[in-house]
Amino acid sequence: MATIQWYPGHMAKAKREAIEKLKLVDVVIELVDARIPESSRNPIVNEIKGQKKQLMLLNKTDLADPIQTKKWMKYYQEEGIEVLTVEAKDGKGLNQVKAAIKALMAEEFEKLAAKGVRPRPIRLMVLGIPNVGKSTFINRMIQKNQAETANRPGVTKGQRWLKIGNDFELLDTPGILWPKFDNQEIGNKLAVTGAIKDSLLHMDDVALFAINIFRTYYTDALRKPYGLSATDLELSDVDLLLLITKKLGFKDDYERASERIIFDIRAGKLGRYTLDTAPISLEGV
Ligand code: G4P
Repeated sequence: MATIQWYPGHMAKAKREAIEKLKLVDVVIELVDARIPESSRNPIVNEIKGQKKQLMLLNKTDLADPIQTKKWMKYYQEEGIEVLTVEAKDGKGLNQVKAAIKALMAEEFEKLAAKGVRPRPIRLMVLGIPNVGKSTFINRMIQKNQAETANRPGVTKGQRWLKIGNDFELLDTPGILWPKFDNQEIGNKLAVTGAIKDSLLHMDDVALFAINIFRTYYTDALRKPYGLSATDLELSDVDLLLLITKKLGFKDDYERASERIIFDIRAGKLGRYTLDTAPISLEGV
């Protein structure tokens, strides 16, 4: 997992590099993890994107709670954000992405066409925090064996454009932003989904956080793998962790059990889940 610890120097550099890349493109594609759509955003995107067109993609929807994904989509649409869902790993949703990008640029290109300017490929970059699937998405978009276009003046050394058919050109390296680590809750969410290094947090804290969310929203998903009864769920989070520790045969080694629970969640053993709760209902949808 390509997670690094971020220091102010790293952040300033990442911001600078993202701004440099942004200058080159028409549309910025912001990838977030559909399981934590808000917690995997970095608000700096809004600050640095300026007037550039933006498309937000909720990736890894195969792992997320479908109802929450629906709610988040509705929420972002109501906020006036251009948003789509994708599954970069399986390449799902990419045709809709291409169509949406074309629609975003249609007016501008029509104006240019009216002035006699020939259409050119739409230039794109991908932006997001680590582990949201940026590389996977880029690889899926370009498919295999795509030729790169010639170097252009003004393109940072080592930066290449990857052609996607005749309509798009994509910067080969994404803009990588730091995960916002505003509070313990966001940190826990990033940790559960594997977006930050495990060593940054205590795994027992992360496991207790996960137990609390799953017992509240995904009760059966928590009960099944650990053989918990309905009455077991009346225990406190800590006692539930200790019970799961015993059920796993780890005696009182709750740290080992915590690691296992997080591993199980990441491996999908507890099914699909979303840790950020959408502030919206689905009435009328
Ligand atoms: P990044 O560039 O933003 O850091 O992310 P990257 O593409 O490296 O993807 C991070 C992890 O997320 C990878 O898993 C990748 O396979 C997985 N991933 C990306 N998109 C999706 C998706 O739509 N659904 C699911 N389920 N997973 C996705 P990994 O464990 O690091 O590697 P591997 O399991 O692919 O070997």
